[in-house]
Amino acid sequence: MREIYTYCEEDTQKLGEEIGKMAWSGMIILLKGDLGTGKTVLTRGIARGLGIEEPITSPTYTLMHQYYGRLSLYHFDIYRLSQPEELYDLDYEEFFYGQGVTVVEWPERMEDLGPDEYLSITIEKKLDHGRDERIIRIIPMGEIYEKLEKDLINI
Ligand SMILES: Nc1ncnc2c1ncn2[C@@H]1O[C@H](COP(=O)(O)OP(=O)(O)O)[C@@H](O)[C@H]1O
Ligand SMILES: [Mg+2]
Repeated sequence: MREIYTYCEEDTQKLGEEIGKMAWSGMIILLKGDLGTGKTVLTRGIARGLGIEEPITSPTYTLMHQYYGRLSLYHFDIYRLSQPEELYDLDYEEFFYGQGVTVVEWPERMEDLGPDEYLSITIEKKLDHGRDERIIRIIPMGEIYEKLEKDLINI
């Protein structure tokens, strides 16, 4: 596990950018954390690292937005999913197991339909003496994600 602390939006975005630069076709990133912790901010960085210039907005109602860069980004925010089976209406497997990079906010909503291998990132907000601190924990789930975790050591 890697634990990274950030104290402003820009630093969280920068971390996302580093991950985006290292991302590969078929990579899946599951982003956990309460509302307002910085999941979308991190996703903006990932998009930037993928060379996507279009602005990233939360797919609150459509549940998924697709962007085109060095690799495509499939950005899911499934907060509003009422049951996991609704994922089939989105043809989610085409994206998860496709050519681009998948990022999912609120992956808990997938329950058993989630992937077996992925990069787990959890963001926790701590209000430490007025400082807007974030604890970002990165856990590789599966062998291919372990190398990335090691490469992040320099951040
Ligand atoms: N260290 C930090 N990292 C990320 N966001 C931060 C940080 N400190 C403050 N913020 C603020 O927290 C909010 C995070 O929003 P957002 O990324 O939309 O959250 P989420 O997608 O998790 O609901 C933004 O308003 C951002 O400016
Ligand atoms: Mg969000």
